[in-house]
Amino acid sequence: MKITYYGHACVGVETPTAHLLFDPFITPNPLASHIDISTIPADYILLSHGHGDHVADALAIAQRTKAKIVSNYEIVTWYETQHQYSNIHPMNHGGSWSFGFGKVRYVNAIHSSVLPDGTYGGNPGGFVVETEVGNCYFAGDTALTMDMQLIPRFTRLDVALLPIGSNFTMGIEEAVVAAEFVQCKTIIGIHYDTFGFIKVDHEAAKAAFAAAGCELILLDIGESWMR
Ligand code: NI
Ligand code: MN
Repeated sequence: MKITYYGHACVGVETPTAHLLFDPFITPNPLASHIDISTIPADYILLSHGHGDHVADALAIAQRTKAKIVSNYEIVTWYETQHQYSNIHPMNHGGSWSFGFGKVRYVNAIHSSVLPDGTYGGNPGGFVVETEVGNCYFAGDTALTMDMQLIPRFTRLDVALLPIGSNFTMGIEEAVVAAEFVQCKTIIGIHYDTFGFIKVDHEAAKAAFAAAGCELILLDIGESWMR
């Protein structure tokens, strides 16, 4: 499993059979100005919720790649009715679906969700993805929630992508507990540094995870991690 960080909460996950892209927000992100969205591969675009900092480039990348958009019912229906984009897969919380590359479960997140034009975006979520080369949890934007403890009952995770920026989501202190709840020692941080509200001290963040026996990986934008 190869994971590439495109800044903010956007990551690409590559398996032997598919490219998954989560929460594309690249062209509005000045920190990601060196990333060219026309070069990003995607067979599936998974959207955790409707906020602009998670969906900004989804339509453009979908139209170029013909990727399947996977999200909650409200969000994929918006792409179909407002943007005439019909390669969609609706999910809702607690449900799983087996795609060609593996299995996806849409799980709870505590946050809000509205689409850029004000359309109701359903309830926000996260994704647990099981593939032949490893399993990952993409938490999306969320508070620390007790529901995270359900995830390891069904899936043994190899890596968890957790927001660490605080203010809009959980911060470092809570994310350390989230790692314990999902029983995963390898964490890739997301949703930090993009705006003034969510700047984090990288060394302090890594030290907090290390003290709990976990490794926090903070990738440079454009950098990949592989296991
Ligand atoms: Ni959000
Ligand atoms: Mn966000």
